Amino acid sequence: MLVKTFTSSLHGIGATIISIEVNITQGIRFFIVGLADHAIRESQQRIESALSCNGFEWPRFRIVINLAPADLRKEGSHFDLPLAMGILAASNQVSSQRLGDYLMLGELSLDGSVMPVKGVLPMTLEAKEKGFKGVIVPVKNAGEASVVDMEVIPASGVKSVVSFLNGCADGLPVPEETSSSFPERRDHYAYDFSQVKGQEAVKRAMLIAAAGNHNLIMAGPPGSGKTMLARCLPSILPSMTLEESLQTTKIHSVAGKMDANASLVTTRPFRSPHHSISDIGMIGGGATPRPGEISLAHNGVLFLDELPEFKRHVLEVLRQPLEERIINVSRANYAVVYPANFMLVASMNPCPCGFYNHPQKECTCGPGMIKKYLSRISGPLLDRIDIHMEVVPVPFGNLTGSGELEKSDSIREQVALARSFQKRRFSGMDHIFSNAQMEPGLMKKHCMIDRPGVSMLHMATERFGLSARAFDRILKVSRTIADLEGSERILAPHLAEAINYRNLDREGWSG
Ligand SMILES: Nc1ncnc2c1ncn2[C@@H]1O[C@H](COP(=O)(O)OP(=O)(O)OP(=O)(O)O)[C@@H](O)[C@H]1O
Ligand SMILES: [Mg+2]
Ligand SMILES: [Zn+2]
Repeated sequence: MLVKTFTSSLHGIGATIISIEVNITQGIRFFIVGLADHAIRESQQRIESALSCNGFEWPRFRIVINLAPADLRKEGSHFDLPLAMGILAASNQVSSQRLGDYLMLGELSLDGSVMPVKGVLPMTLEAKEKGFKGVIVPVKNAGEASVVDMEVIPASGVKSVVSFLNGCADGLPVPEETSSSFPERRDHYAYDFSQVKGQEAVKRAMLIAAAGNHNLIMAGPPGSGKTMLARCLPSILPSMTLEESLQTTKIHSVAGKMDANASLVTTRPFRSPHHSISDIGMIGGGATPRPGEISLAHNGVLFLDELPEFKRHVLEVLRQPLEERIINVSRANYAVVYPANFMLVASMNPCPCGFYNHPQKECTCGPGMIKKYLSRISGPLLDRIDIHMEVVPVPFGNLTGSGELEKSDSIREQVALARSFQKRRFSGMDHIFSNAQMEPGLMKKHCMIDRPGVSMLHMATERFGLSARAFDRILKVSRTIADLEGSERILAPHLAEAINYRNLDREGWSG
């Protein structure tokens, strides 16, 4: 008997519906055709055990399984469940009536439990798009699937799926976590700026960075609070939109990074890969395609702690995503595109010993050493970082004060206001939404400065030896500072402040 079940296969963060035809005829062999990967071809062992543990029989006949479309590579252990149900239906052990209405996903353990899988959200979205009535997914992925407005059947084991397909059971209720309850679940961050004492100047730089979507680098001695400050940044970025949340969730889902029972990623991600990371870990790829750190940071913050310690070629590969906000990953057998729109925050020590400009400790590095150290991060990457900030440790006495400090919530309101000006400014432009993204043409239009401003810029250029590239950065950042003040025009104080954020162009620290 020939039956058909449905599942899905991932490519990038999208999914394609796969139909599984199972035909049982006279004979004894088992075949799977249609570009199946290892995990699918190995499924026979798992399914056989799962069925026999639950009182079903593995048919002692010739079983041919065809996965269509035939020319698409298919991978993943989530084929187990639809394959098992196809085999049971083709051997009359389960009704095939509902098979055409539901998309099935799930890995089987040897005792027939249904184990969680990757990529449930994109696959469920595709099921909805293609008009399926519902999805049958592992219990632990039901929260994620329930984001999509369709029937979700949580599957705990082979038996429960069989009884559902036989019409003996309805879908179990799943947690009320649909996208309609989305707005209430945002903006809960563990790190808040009110936990950071002092550091007003750095907080100000971070407000500007968040407001204009500018990348930022912080330099400061060990223990000065760089990591803590960076961790606070997601909490002042604008609240995530549903669209952003869905995109970020898809990436985390495909990467297998969703917590069990989680539904949507509703807070902006903060990713902090170790400096020993490989380029595949950073941008994605591998034998079976996986998103890298830059995509896991999509719509959030990528924090590169101790930037000079990262391998040079790992930093080099950041150039495309920083420009285009996507990454193309291709290998011999696949080519995928992952979104990678993140804010880059980097940190470093100011010098090899770490104590340059420290209020109490002595720096033991000579000027030559500092210059050499700083030159390790020069070039194209630095070119894409608009704001350089020195972090000086807060004296111990000031750390213990108990005054009320401004909360991230109120800083985020300022960010949102500045972003709203930018939204209007760039409305109708496809990929541009922030000041940081302005190209020369746009800068010419939106970053006009008056005569005193021009002469101040020239003076700064000469005095600090600023390069032409610093010039553009200063204009963009001063545009954001003006936006924060609600000023249509960029005024001299805005420029003066922006000039202060170009420390690393001065061939050393301002000291
Ligand atoms: N301004 C501050 N307010 C409150 N706590 C602070 C402040 N600065 C530092 N701390 C405390 O000091 C700890 C160390 O800070 P953090 O790890 O952020 O420093 P760092 O600059 O990243 O150091 P390293 O260079 O060693 O990575 C923090 O966990 C925090 O408890
Ligand atoms: Mg740190
Ligand atoms: Zn030093």
